Amino acid sequence: MLIDIITIFPEVCKPYLDSSILGIAQEKGKLEIRLHNLRDYTLDKHRKVDDRPFGGGPGMILTAEPVFRAVEAIKRTADSGQRTTKVILLTPQGKTLNQKLAEKLSKRKHLILICGRYEGVDERVRESLVDEEISIGDYILSGGELAALVLTDSLARLLPGVLGHKDSNVRESFSNNLLEYPQYTRPADFRGLGVPQVLLSGDHKKIEEWRKHQAVKITKKKRPDLLRGP
Ligand SMILES: C[S@@+](CC[C@H](N)C(=O)[O-])C[C@H]1O[C@@H](n2cnc3c(N)ncnc32)[C@H](O)[C@@H]1O
Repeated sequence: MLIDIITIFPEVCKPYLDSSILGIAQEKGKLEIRLHNLRDYTLDKHRKVDDRPFGGGPGMILTAEPVFRAVEAIKRTADSGQRTTKVILLTPQGKTLNQKLAEKLSKRKHLILICGRYEGVDERVRESLVDEEISIGDYILSGGELAALVLTDSLARLLPGVLGHKDSNVRESFSNNLLEYPQYTRPADFRGLGVPQVLLSGDHKKIEEWRKHQAVKITKKKRPDLLRGP
C-alpha cells in the first residue's frame, strides 16, 4: 500500500511514521509512506499556501492551487494508471473513522491524504479533488496531521504481515463488534493483586471460553451499542 500525505508540517509527521509498527511496516515493504510539503507546490517565491476568506471572517484558508498541484503531481509519480487512487481530506465534516472504515480503506492500493490547516481548505478542493472526507472525531484539531497519522496507523496494523502474530487483529477491540477481554502479564501476584486462575491453568479451551465471556460482558457494560451491530 502507498500512502501520500500532503501537509505544511511534514517534519511533525515523520518521527511518528518512522517509529514502531509504522516503521516496521515500511521496513518490511508492506507500506510506503511519502510526505509532501504543500509549500513545494506553490508558484510564488514566498511559498504562500493560505489567503483570507472571501466574504470576510476569521483566519486564513488553504488555497486551492498548491493542493491541486500536489495531488496531480503525486498521481503522476504514483503511476496511477496502475493503481486506483483515493484522495482523502481529513476534516471534522467527514465520516467518523472506525474499525470498519479502516478495514475497507486498508484494501486500497493508494491513498492521498490532505491535511488541512488554519480555518480549513478552499471548498473547491472538496468539490473537485477529494473522493472521501474523514474525521477522527467530533472535536476540532489545529490541523489534519494528527488525523492523518491516526488513519495511517489504523490502516498499517491491518495490512497482512505487519503485526507479528497473524491473530493480533482478529482479537483486538471492535473486530466482531466486541471489545477486548482483560489481559494480564507477569508477575502473577503484583502487590497482592492476582490474576484470574483460569489464565494460569494451561487449559486453552477454558481460557478461550473465559475470554469470549469477558469480551461480551465488557462490551455489554462499556459499549452496548456495538452488540447491536452496524
Ligand atoms: C482548525 S481546523 C478547521 C476547522 C474548520 N474551521 C471547521 O469549523 O470545520 C484545521 C484543519 O484541521 C483538520 N481537522 C480538525 N479537526 C479534525 C477532525 N476532527 N478530524 C479530521 N481532521 C480534523 C482539518 O484538516 C481542518 O481543515
